[in-house]
Amino acid sequence: MGVAMKTVEFRDAEVVLIDQTLLPGELRFIRCRDIECVAEAIESLRVRGAPAIGVTAAFGLAMVALQNRGEAREKVLAALEAAAERLERTRPTAVNLFWAIERVMRRARTAQDPAEAAAEEADAMYREDLETNRKIGEHGAELLRDGDRILTHCNAGALATAGVYGTALAPVKVAREQGKRVEVYADETRPLLQGARLTAFEMVQEGIPVTVLTEGMAAFAMREEGITKVIVGADRIAANGDTANKIGTYGLAVLAREHGIPFYVAAPLSTIDRATPTGEEIPIEFRDRTEVEFFNGRRVVPEGAGVLNPAFAPRTNTSPG
Ligand code: MRU
Repeated sequence: MGVAMKTVEFRDAEVVLIDQTLLPGELRFIRCRDIECVAEAIESLRVRGAPAIGVTAAFGLAMVALQNRGEAREKVLAALEAAAERLERTRPTAVNLFWAIERVMRRARTAQDPAEAAAEEADAMYREDLETNRKIGEHGAELLRDGDRILTHCNAGALATAGVYGTALAPVKVAREQGKRVEVYADETRPLLQGARLTAFEMVQEGIPVTVLTEGMAAFAMREEGITKVIVGADRIAANGDTANKIGTYGLAVLAREHGIPFYVAAPLSTIDRATPTGEEIPIEFRDRTEVEFFNGRRVVPEGAGVLNPAFAPRTNTSPG
């Protein structure tokens, strides 16, 4: 995978995505030609990460809009409303999804030619995401020093956004471009291993030193391996700064405080939800129990045991434990 490869693109009125469930073993692209394909890709985490989900949803709407181009305005809008409703039911926590759908729909509803307007808006959002990530990298890199060892969780890199820089990994990439010798420690991120599979893949592809650890090893890494900073992404930031991110982030924040290690959340404005006052109101996605019960297709939890599988933690270090 080239460094500049895009996670999601809109080509020939199709939504083209890397199927991230197959990484790192196989780099395969899916081409979606209907909204069900796009919705399924989001639900099953073929495409995942808050900004990537938002851009994918916007492209899904653009696809539906262009498929209906030439039809009466009401018909185009009705097709878009139905697609938006389907996309809104995919994943509840990342606010970027709802932000993106709302933005495309608002533009379409107020335009003479809703099909053209929806496609234009989706394209603008895609470009903005690439640009924003680069800026997150520039700002974040100022905080990084030569020799930093940065612990990150889940994947908040290119694969979690429209592409290239990502959010939490953007400061690392820019710092490396600036010649700072920083390295990454990637939490494995149970149960779906976004850290081990995706962050480590991205870092290896880009020639950035990366060490994978399981979440249970984070305290050890902080005390014994000289972790100097923690940087994570976010799925939704409430008006008071409470942050929801991949399950395990909350624990890392508590550990970072215990060890006196700076903890940063790197996210674009599209992740900030001013309508949600605190982390308590952020809807947390609970996923299927089989994600925990099975590992690589093999049962690892005995039948009859209860299983807890929240995909996100509602609060990090901005609110007391
Ligand atoms: O369940 P996922 O893989 O979509 O979870 C992703 C995360 O938790 C990321 O850290 C978050 O979306 C920020 S991505 C830039």
